[in-house]
Amino acid sequence: MSEDIVIHKGLENIYVKETRISYIDGVEGRVYYRGYDVEELVEKSLYEEVSYLLIYGELPTKRRLYNWIADITSNYALEDGIIEILKKLPRNASPLDILKYSLLTIGLWDEKINSLDRDDLYEKIVKILGKTPSILANWYRIRRGLPPIQPDRNLGYADNFIYLIKGRPSSQDAEIFDDVLILHAEHGLNASAFAGMVTISTLSDLYSALTSSINTLKGPLHGGAAGAALKMFREIGDPDKVEAYFESKLSRKERIMGFGHRVYKTYDPRARILKNIISRLELPPNVDKLFRIALRVEEVGMERLCRKKRICPNIDLYSGIIYLYLGLPDDFSPAIFALSRLSGWLAHILEYLEDPRLIRPRAKYMGAIGLRYVPLEERGD
Ligand code: COA
Repeated sequence: MSEDIVIHKGLENIYVKETRISYIDGVEGRVYYRGYDVEELVEKSLYEEVSYLLIYGELPTKRRLYNWIADITSNYALEDGIIEILKKLPRNASPLDILKYSLLTIGLWDEKINSLDRDDLYEKIVKILGKTPSILANWYRIRRGLPPIQPDRNLGYADNFIYLIKGRPSSQDAEIFDDVLILHAEHGLNASAFAGMVTISTLSDLYSALTSSINTLKGPLHGGAAGAALKMFREIGDPDKVEAYFESKLSRKERIMGFGHRVYKTYDPRARILKNIISRLELPPNVDKLFRIALRVEEVGMERLCRKKRICPNIDLYSGIIYLYLGLPDDFSPAIFALSRLSGWLAHILEYLEDPRLIRPRAKYMGAIGLRYVPLEERGD
């Protein structure tokens, strides 16, 4: 066996492809989608436009955006069959699993499920983007014992989601939700984007690739971090107890949620944008309390983790608080993250399909060889 094999644990700093989708400047603390600063996109754009930008590589013309939105909204409505299935699912199923299940369900109804032809992919993409928010929002309703309602195709993406969960439109909530969607829409070749790419590299189907991404997003080190941060704020209970919490966690070498990132070695710009949005809101007391704890966690973490070790606040320090403000239960946070990230994942999948190559890394074998097979009856208990 060769001795000069280098093991790249976690594939850290291994480049596997070229990309034009997004760039994270981990030193300056900026993120660009297709060259556009995400801060400007949040300020001036809508999620629908950003999803087009990510997936098709350029800002749409007026006509293209109109068609894109029309194609997505024409897919908003849910077939009775889907609603009936949702009603039968166990109420404690996580929204992220429901999102995954809904993708698989949409796939089952797709007669061209395996086609990777560009026009067929377009049909699938607008269907996925149109139906998934309707399914997720109706899951929110069903779980609360509310009757499912049909989406309103005259409403924009964020507006429609807020309408479905609240039963009425709210322009302020929709605006905030739109910002949240844009901020989470893409973030480089992270674990979930990579997982989708691995699946599509076998020329599997689009739905399978996206569900691979969702499965990978689930963990607390990735999409589960926002919920874990909220749990941490509740555990701390009071801004005055933050220092003691850090002391006890760090002495046991445990992680502080909402801090650290593979690429950013400075403050995640998305966290700053979210913090500014929250600061402008009139928060109900329960949310305000958690926000004050989060601000103190940031202060202490800046000193103990960011300045000293370049482990700095990331988006998940504040995203859970926004979800809570919007009335979404904790376990919705990875699902909302995934809902917005569908655009980024789709962009990575399409980009990979331009020049696909089966992804097949290797592992250095360290086990034994040539062992004698011992019959079961001779192996003892
Ligand atoms: N709190 C305390 N210590 C942390 C930390 C955190 N949030 N994140 C990393 N570290 C420490 C590790 O314990 C490790 O210390 P060691 O070298 O003494 O063992 C060191 O920093 C490097 O950790 P590693 O996991 O290799 O860094 P990474 O860059 O691969 O990790 C994350 C990136 C996101 C997985 C990691 O920072 C983390 O777990 N953060 C908390 C979860 C989170 O907020 N995720 C959302 C990401 S957007």
